Amino acid sequence: MDLLEVKNISKTYGTGEATVHALKDATFSVPKGEFVAVVGESGSGKSTLLNMIGALDTPTSGKVFIDGKDIFSMKERNLTVFRRRNIGFIFQSFNLIPELTVEQNIIFPVLLDYQKPNKKYLEELLTVLGLKERRRHLPSQLSGGQQQRVAIGRALITRPALILADEPTGNLDTQNTSEVIALLKEASRLYEQTIVMITHSQSIAQTADRILRVSDGVVTDLGRCKE
Ligand SMILES: Nc1ncnc2c1ncn2[C@@H]1O[C@H](COP(=O)(O)OP(=O)(O)O)[C@@H](O)[C@H]1O
Ligand SMILES: [Mg+2]
Repeated sequence: MDLLEVKNISKTYGTGEATVHALKDATFSVPKGEFVAVVGESGSGKSTLLNMIGALDTPTSGKVFIDGKDIFSMKERNLTVFRRRNIGFIFQSFNLIPELTVEQNIIFPVLLDYQKPNKKYLEELLTVLGLKERRRHLPSQLSGGQQQRVAIGRALITRPALILADEPTGNLDTQNTSEVIALLKEASRLYEQTIVMITHSQSIAQTADRILRVSDGVVTDLGRCKE
C-alpha cells in the first residue's frame, strides 16, 4: 500500500474577483520510504499542496490518505494527535523556541504528546545531526545550518512515517544544504520514512526518487527518476 495517497485535491482561496485556484484536482501517490522532490515556479501551489498533505489546511475538495487513513474524515482532536505522531514538518524558517536548548527543542514534540523521549534515539540523532557538543546551547548561539539541523531533529524525533519539508535549505549555504539533504536521505533510508520536499534546486531534485512538478495549480507526477 502507498504511504501517501492524494486524490483529486483542489484548493480555492477567496471569492469573486479575488478567487485563486491554488490547486486543481491533484492526484498522485507515494510508496513508503520514497524521497519525493516537488518543483515549480513561485506561486504555482507547492506550499498549498504540502499544507493539504500535512492537514495544516483543508482542501476545497478531494481526499488525502496517509497510511490508509482518510485524514480529513478524522475529528479535529484525533487529527492533531495523528499529525503529531505521523508527520514531521520542516520549514524554511526554523521556528525554534528561543528559550529552550537544542536538546529541549528536539524533544519538544514528544513532551507535547505526554511521552518520554527514547534516550538512545535522541543520542543517535544528536550524533547524526552533529549537535552533540551543542545540546545545551540556545538557538541564538547557533549558526543557521545548525539551527536547521535542530529543526530536522525535532521533525525526526517521533520517527514519523511522513516528513514534509518546505524549502528546508532555502536559508542555507551550499555546504549546509548538501549536509541537510544527505541527513534527510539517511533518515529515510534508515527508518523507511517517506519524504516530500519542496525545492528550488534542480540539483537536489535530480537526486530524489520521484519528482512532482506543480504548474499553475496542476500537479504532474514525473514518475520515478531511477530504478
Ligand atoms: N491563504 C491564502 N489566501 C489567498 N491566496 C493564497 C493563500 N495562500 C496561497 N495563496 C495563493 O495560492 C497560490 C499558490 O500559493 P503557494 O502554494 O504558496 O505557492 P508556492 O509555494 O508554489 O510559491 C498563489 O497564487 C498564492 O497567492
Ligand atoms: Mg511556497
